[in-house]
Amino acid sequence: MRVAIVGASGAVGLEIIKILQERKFKISALSLFGSKRSAGKSIFYKRKPITIKQLKSSSLKDFDIVFFSAGANISKKYAPIAAANNCVVIDNSSAFRMEKKVALVIPEINSTHISKYKSKIIANPNCTTIISLMAIKPLYDIGSIRRIVATSFQSVSGAGNAGMTELISETKRFLSGTKKSKNKVFDRNIAFNVIPKIGLITKNGYSEEEMKLHNESRKILSDNRILISATTVRVPVLRSHSISINIEFEKKISLAKAQRALSKFPGIQNIKIDNPMSYPTPIDSSNKDDCLVGRLRTDYSTKNGLSLWVVGDQIRKGAALNAVQIAECLQEK
Ligand SMILES: NC(=O)c1ccc[n+]([C@@H]2O[C@H](COP(=O)([O-])OP(=O)(O)OC[C@H]3O[C@@H](n4cnc5c(N)ncnc54)[C@H](OP(=O)(O)O)[C@@H]3O)[C@@H](O)[C@H]2O)c1
Repeated sequence: MRVAIVGASGAVGLEIIKILQERKFKISALSLFGSKRSAGKSIFYKRKPITIKQLKSSSLKDFDIVFFSAGANISKKYAPIAAANNCVVIDNSSAFRMEKKVALVIPEINSTHISKYKSKIIANPNCTTIISLMAIKPLYDIGSIRRIVATSFQSVSGAGNAGMTELISETKRFLSGTKKSKNKVFDRNIAFNVIPKIGLITKNGYSEEEMKLHNESRKILSDNRILISATTVRVPVLRSHSISINIEFEKKISLAKAQRALSKFPGIQNIKIDNPMSYPTPIDSSNKDDCLVGRLRTDYSTKNGLSLWVVGDQIRKGAALNAVQIAECLQEK
């Protein structure tokens, strides 16, 4: 396949390149695009340097697959051009996720949507949606869900390379007692702090990130009855998102049944419930493909509830890996 990556120098772009090599994705030619800032620089693919070219309207033709990882504005402008030139677009941004004709895909959950939807653009869901649904779907399959309450603990790399730089430099300033300089990426200090707001606050009081989890989950599960009340929080962690999930079912689901369902699900590593000390942390899931589940327990405050904790590398499964898995589904076809 002839493959292009738009936003190759970013956190997600670099991870896509890494994963394409790791998974031996069959590529006949790979082209990398970026802004003026990275044009001319090289990135190694299979030990050979590939020069990043500046993205232009005329750049995106003669490719089978174009991965977009340069933000929603770039996707909105250039993805339709690539699609019109007969390239399949796999888009990591939020630009097209909720569009009617666009498939929103987590391959372990709804790979069938790839051929069901007609658009040449396929959207990768939001990172918190992917990691949450990887843990929710096996339980969704064994019991009717009444409502879900989720609280995320999202790492700074969710805001790209610049998010990591801001946490590291702010931490150094804080520890050296240097005067505070203005934050660029986050609204408030992120070092030694948590920020309970990701994205803009919408009319209903929830943030955009929180509504993405609700809206995207409905589309992926093809189920408009699902109700998710989320609180999304930025935490001073470099990599991997964690989500605390509480699920209320119509009928009781035993812990053993829940554990079995999670254990069987591809892409989930289920830390044993009989060992309460084996809970996963963001560091445990960093640079791993699988999402790790732990702290599975019966919710004593309600009749039919379960609580659990899931962590996943949001640059990998929450973005780059999921995108490459979609490409693999296309390659199989
Ligand atoms: N980070 C995550 O965990 C994560 C997870 C899920 C989804 N996403 C989504 O994935 C996308 C990329 O995120 P990221 O975290 O990788 O961001 P990032 O680290 O900030 O990287 C952004 C990339 O976009 C490129 N870019 C910026 N302006 C451009 C332009 N005018 N033309 C061409 N390329 C341009 C940058 O290239 P230059 O170096 O040339 O500026 C860089 O390669 C975003 O839509 C984000 O919401 C991210």
